[in-house]
Amino acid sequence: MRILVLGSGGREHALAHCLSQSDGTAEIIIAPGNAGTLQVGKNVPVSADDTEALLALVRRENIDLTVVGPELPLVAGIADAFAASGIPVVGPSAAAAAIEGSKAFAKDFMARHGIPTAAYAVFGDFRAADSYLRSAATPIVVKASGLAAGKGALICEDRKEARRALRRLMTAREFGDAGREVVIEEYMEGEEASILVLTDGESYTTLAAAQDHKRVGDSDTGPNTGGMGAYAPAPVAGQQVLGRVCREIVEPTLEGLASEDRLYRGCLYVGIMLTQEGPKVVEYNCRFGDPEAQAVLPLIDGNLVETFVALAEGRLASVRLGVRPAAAACVVMASGGYPGSYEKGMPITGLQEVATMPDVTVYHAGTRVNDQGRIVTAGGRVLGVTGIGKDLTQALERTYNAVGCLDFAGAHYRQDIGHKGLRN
Ligand code: AMP
Ligand code: GLY
Repeated sequence: MRILVLGSGGREHALAHCLSQSDGTAEIIIAPGNAGTLQVGKNVPVSADDTEALLALVRRENIDLTVVGPELPLVAGIADAFAASGIPVVGPSAAAAAIEGSKAFAKDFMARHGIPTAAYAVFGDFRAADSYLRSAATPIVVKASGLAAGKGALICEDRKEARRALRRLMTAREFGDAGREVVIEEYMEGEEASILVLTDGESYTTLAAAQDHKRVGDSDTGPNTGGMGAYAPAPVAGQQVLGRVCREIVEPTLEGLASEDRLYRGCLYVGIMLTQEGPKVVEYNCRFGDPEAQAVLPLIDGNLVETFVALAEGRLASVRLGVRPAAAACVVMASGGYPGSYEKGMPITGLQEVATMPDVTVYHAGTRVNDQGRIVTAGGRVLGVTGIGKDLTQALERTYNAVGCLDFAGAHYRQDIGHKGLRN
């Protein structure tokens, strides 16, 4: 079995690692990968966005299965191109990936299918959006409709701040074309959870419910990031809540996608807010979460290779996948300045020491091997340190123990990953 994993982040390292753990005979190729994926398989310097080069790579390397990590190639239609060439792929079609590619589309989709979410309005024109704000309640959320690496949702306390957000997105185009259209949304109060679902478009299986930590600072302060850490299972989304999420959100979503002929074979990520009125969708992602994957994948009980092959062939119902009775925590170590600008090329120390620690895995994100053969930083989120334990307390202890051994100039991380879980 030769498996190609597309992408270069912590999620992709976790996918590659867990695939190789679940089937020792599988050969893993990662495009383009990072310094961590080199320990699992072979890196090939092809961009995850270069469909033509990837199709050639799949033929050249006799790839049996491709797993797509990031959203960009999915939204651009890589799964369709692969399917057209008869190559099995884990990742939804472009028509289905639009649930992440366009928040305006996702909101209209939810409205069409009666899926609970915040009240909203969509605008392509600044003046119309601004005049809508006049009668809207605050706080309010202003979002770029297009892809913005998880940073395009601005929570605004009052109308003045909301106007400023509109200007940032629509006039200054801080997120480029993603801000051409905006979604203005009711503010939802509650705790969030990330529900990752594997589906072939017909059957589905949920993975352990996770909680992300989007803000850069402790106690959820500072700007939003791609995610500073995650843990699973999240007690806030226990069996009962999860059952409700499946009935009221996951199943209507999958049925809605199927009824609109939007083929979904991949991981559906449902970001939910647990409000007083019940769970509501904050966002959909058309892929595994990052860093949720680094916490959720190691808890899978079952053969991931077999599962992905079955999923890609549309027979997911034929495999059994469970969740291990354990807990996982992932702490992200980021470059100084992230989520703003940061320097690269800082040597990372402590990796060898941590490699000997039981029940800890360091998933690389922005790392590379420099000309001297040293592993150095190469991105905003650098490492995702995952610890597994019998419960969250033990998982966190192991994780932070390892984090304490790792370092690079400017490194920062949150000290409070999983605290909400401990409180629950
Ligand atoms: P999104 O990019 O839509 O996932 O939004 C990023 C983050 O902003 C979410 O994970 C929430 O923490 C927050 N957020 C987004 N929409 C809302 C909302 N309607 N009410 C409250 N918080 C929100
Ligand atoms: N951790 C949030 C995301 O993957 O979008």
